[in-house]
Amino acid sequence: MATKFTQAKPYDPNTNFSVKAVGTVLDRSLQRLQVDAVDLYQIHYPPARRRLDTYLDAMAATVKSGKAKAIGVSNFSTDYLRHSYTYLQSVHGVTLASNQVGFNLLHRHPERNGMLAACRELGVTSLPILPLAEGVLTGKFRVGGQEHGGQGPTLFRGASLFEPGESFFKAMRSKPYEMHREELEPLFEVMDQIARAHDGTIAQVALNWLINTDPLVIPIPGAKSPSQVKSNAAALSWTMTAEEFSRLAETEAAIRRSLRL
Ligand SMILES: NC(=O)c1ccc[n+]([C@@H]2O[C@H](COP(=O)([O-])OP(=O)(O)OC[C@H]3O[C@@H](n4cnc5c(N)ncnc54)[C@H](OP(=O)(O)O)[C@@H]3O)[C@@H](O)[C@H]2O)c1
Repeated sequence: MATKFTQAKPYDPNTNFSVKAVGTVLDRSLQRLQVDAVDLYQIHYPPARRRLDTYLDAMAATVKSGKAKAIGVSNFSTDYLRHSYTYLQSVHGVTLASNQVGFNLLHRHPERNGMLAACRELGVTSLPILPLAEGVLTGKFRVGGQEHGGQGPTLFRGASLFEPGESFFKAMRSKPYEMHREELEPLFEVMDQIARAHDGTIAQVALNWLINTDPLVIPIPGAKSPSQVKSNAAALSWTMTAEEFSRLAETEAAIRRSLRL
């Protein structure tokens, strides 16, 4: 069981919690969940650099009190992640367990910007958020499928992209991702072939691909119905071949190159 603490949501002024709230927010979550401890307590957004250690102290205290079995971060840059890991280990003897990071087959920046390498080196589990690209990677919006209203889904850039000195919220909100339906079709064709070969679905291929990127990668897909939960969980029941994994990666890379993304 996992939960998160947010110090402030930019779109909700009522969530401007101070560092003191790290503990009280968890207490309220434990009450609502009717448990004594959560397996994972995460900090949702990276605090300002000058306040980072104070928040890490408060997060570490939840492990020491036994109310959290482990702690994780979310949307942290590689630099923040490395600092947090070292600080928690050296000052508190607490091992940072996880990092929620924007990562999916259409958003592969963590492979390129050092985030996955850092997690692997430190033994931190990566929890890819939006692993189905807000439903795009289920294939439902591909050519011939459902129309997606508006300009198409905005793929969350994730803070793995933001570098020291760059505003997290600016990075998060910039560069909305266009839904290139026609251009993405070769990728969906490959996904469809792989899905058929394993008696699976396109969504399962997207999740299976993430799982295959690294043993320490555990995608956290969202679901709107019990059948979506069951179907997504079934991504664990088969494994794509190395050739299929590479074919997907190469097809995505070719599309990205042709779109100059
Ligand atoms: N750390 C952060 O800042 C952050 C930010 C965003 C999200 N997250 C986390 O990331 C996780 C996933 O986020 P998400 O749900 O927004 O994105 P997602 O996993 O990429 O997309 C999930 C959506 O895809 C559709 N879907 C899921 N399974 C399907 C299936 N088997 N067949 C067909 N459609 C399917 C559903 O929408 P429809 O049925 O409506 O199409 C579902 O809501 C959540 O745990 C969320 O809390 C974290």
